[in-house]
Amino acid sequence: MERASIVDTLPVYIFDETNRLKYEARVQGHDIIDFGMGNPDIPTPAPVVEKLRQAVLDPRNHRYSVSRGIPGVRRELAYWYKRKYDVDLDPDKEVLLTLGAKEGFNHLILAITEPGEHVLVTTPCYPIHRFAVQLARAVPVLLPADPEKLLPAAEAALSSVEPRPRTLIISYPNNPTTACVDLEFFSKAVAFARNHNLLLIHDFAYADLVYDNYKAPSVLQVPGAKETALEFYSLTKGYSMAGWRVGFCSGHAPVLNKLRRLKSYYDYGMFQPIQIAAAVALRDCDDEVQTISGTYQDRRDCLIRNFEQAGWPITPPRGTLFVWAPVPDQLRGRMTSFDFTRFLLAEAEVAVAPGIGFGEAGEGWVRLALVENEHRIKQAARNIRRALSKC
Ligand SMILES: Cc1ncc(COP(=O)(O)O)c(C=O)c1O
Repeated sequence: MERASIVDTLPVYIFDETNRLKYEARVQGHDIIDFGMGNPDIPTPAPVVEKLRQAVLDPRNHRYSVSRGIPGVRRELAYWYKRKYDVDLDPDKEVLLTLGAKEGFNHLILAITEPGEHVLVTTPCYPIHRFAVQLARAVPVLLPADPEKLLPAAEAALSSVEPRPRTLIISYPNNPTTACVDLEFFSKAVAFARNHNLLLIHDFAYADLVYDNYKAPSVLQVPGAKETALEFYSLTKGYSMAGWRVGFCSGHAPVLNKLRRLKSYYDYGMFQPIQIAAAVALRDCDDEVQTISGTYQDRRDCLIRNFEQAGWPITPPRGTLFVWAPVPDQLRGRMTSFDFTRFLLAEAEVAVAPGIGFGEAGEGWVRLALVENEHRIKQAARNIRRALSKC
């Protein structure tokens, strides 16, 4: 039966196309070195896996859990914020467990957005930031992800767009651009949000993946931020727990309560053993997170060094799981990001994500996820050198 729906308004996912090309190349026997998706390849820390194993054997943990998260895991998240950022959170009112940041983010936007409303979103961006707005039947207003340009552009949008936006979505360290900010930027963003009566939503998915002694600030560190801001945090990247689907939303209690209410209609909570193991991760695994981040830093250094020698210079990121790289000079203007992605797959057996997949502002760039080991990164550099030398 043909039936029109909101889903039909979503564009063809560009990564479906690149995944198809990758799959075809593999079927033909090519060993593709895959920097395409930010899907961590490092195992989850052993104490977390062991706690899950123990918890799963207890039948009391097999029943429905609670949608907002058991008190123990919300309490550990509050301790985590206190220890890392000196931020005080009430685990009952100011912390909510979500089924990964992605689910929480989508439902938050649904819970707080009216159909036809304008929502300020940066671009290029993690595609969900934009499409969650569209799925809520609202209209994204795109602003530059560059932190230098963001607030002036937001100011201009507020005075020119009707109905006036009520929400600003940001994320630093940024996927895909890898842009990082300091606490002063967040102070300005919070002041801006308060002055304009905006809800500020910060996606802090890459909080733990930071390099060269850079420490990414939390927006909740800004005094008074909880009156206007919410922050998502996730165990996916820092704790290498992508498949576990553990995220949190923290901050402004009245809006968080709307998300809590909406979620109570959608889910019965995460499988309880996972919540128990997530609490152990937050409590006991700071060293493991350091090791994971160190592995990505070594891969970053390896990639930057070897790709430069291959004729593709790239600025090293200070954070995230990614490298954001311009289409090399000799091909710029001749190839779009999608053409270049196809070229790398065909000529170098290397998969990347084309910048256009993150919005028009990503054109001319590609994103490489640091999810291959150093041996494979060096192999990729050799292949790329050979491919570029033919251009
Ligand atoms: C900015 C951003 N937020 C959220 C996510 C997804 O996080 P989770 O696995 O917790 O849903 C990603 C994953 O790539 C991301 O890049």
